Amino acid sequence: MTAAAPIAIFDSGVGGLTVARELRRALANEEIIYLGDTARVPYGPKSAATVKRFGGECVEFLLHFRPKLVIIACNTASATALEDLDQIVDVPLLGVIEPGARAALGASNLRRIGVIGTRATITSGAYPRAVAALDKGATVFSRACPLFVPMVEEGRTKGPVVKAVAQEYLTPLLEQEIDTLILGCTHYPVLKSVMAEVVGAGVTLIDSAETMATAAKELLAARGEGRPESAETPKQHFYVTDVIDEFERVGRIIWPDMTGRIERVEIGRAALR
Ligand code: DGL
Repeated sequence: MTAAAPIAIFDSGVGGLTVARELRRALANEEIIYLGDTARVPYGPKSAATVKRFGGECVEFLLHFRPKLVIIACNTASATALEDLDQIVDVPLLGVIEPGARAALGASNLRRIGVIGTRATITSGAYPRAVAALDKGATVFSRACPLFVPMVEEGRTKGPVVKAVAQEYLTPLLEQEIDTLILGCTHYPVLKSVMAEVVGAGVTLIDSAETMATAAKELLAARGEGRPESAETPKQHFYVTDVIDEFERVGRIIWPDMTGRIERVEIGRAALR
C-alpha cells in the first residue's frame, strides 16, 4: 500500500463527520473518502446481525478506492461488526472502541468509567469488554441514550431541552461516582459543552472522535504510511446512500466548514440491480 492512498471512513450516516473533522485536523495531508449509509441510518436500534451486514457492504464499497486504512467511525458498527469485518479485510481496520477504552483508562484515577451510546452499542457490551481487556480492576457503568442522536440531527445542540435530557441520562452514572465518561457515539461530541456542564469538572469526557484521530495518526506513523506534504490541498470526498441535501444540512451542524464533493451511491444488493 502506498502512502498516497486515501484513508476510508464509514458511518451509519452523517454523525461520522465528527470523526472525519478530527481526522482532517490531525492528519492535514491525507486524502479522505467518507461513506455515510444515510439510506439505512440509524444503526443504533438495529440487531447486531443487521449492522454486521450493513457494515460489510460499506467496507466492500470503500475497498474499491484501495485505501491504506479503513476507519469505522460508527460506534454501533465498531461495537458489533469490527471483529467479523477484520477477518475479511486485508488493510488495517480501526474501530472507535479500543482507542476510547484506552483513553478512558488513561484519564481515570478512580477506575470508575461511564459509557454512553446507542442501544446496540450498550447491549453489545463492547466498551466494558475493551476496558476489562486492558484493566481488569476498572468498573464500567453503561447507559443507552437514544434521544441524543435525533436531537443533534434537529440542530438541538444546547439549550434547556438538551440539558434536561442530558441530566436525566447522566444522573444515574454520576450517582455511581464515575470520574470519566466515554462519549460512545458519533453524535455526542457535538453535545460536549452541555454534557460538561451537567457532569461538572470532576468528570473527564472522552471524545471518541478525537481518540480515533489520534489512533489513526499513530498507526500511520508506525507503518511509515503518512502522506507526504504536497502543494495540492488533499481531497475529501463524501458518498451517501440517500439524498445529498439532508446530509449537507446535518453535516453543517456537525462540521460547519466541511468542504469536498458529495455524491449519492448505491451499495450492497441495491448496487447490483
Ligand atoms: N453512528 C451511530 C453511532 O456512533 C449513531 C447513529 C446511528 O444510530 O446510526 O453509534
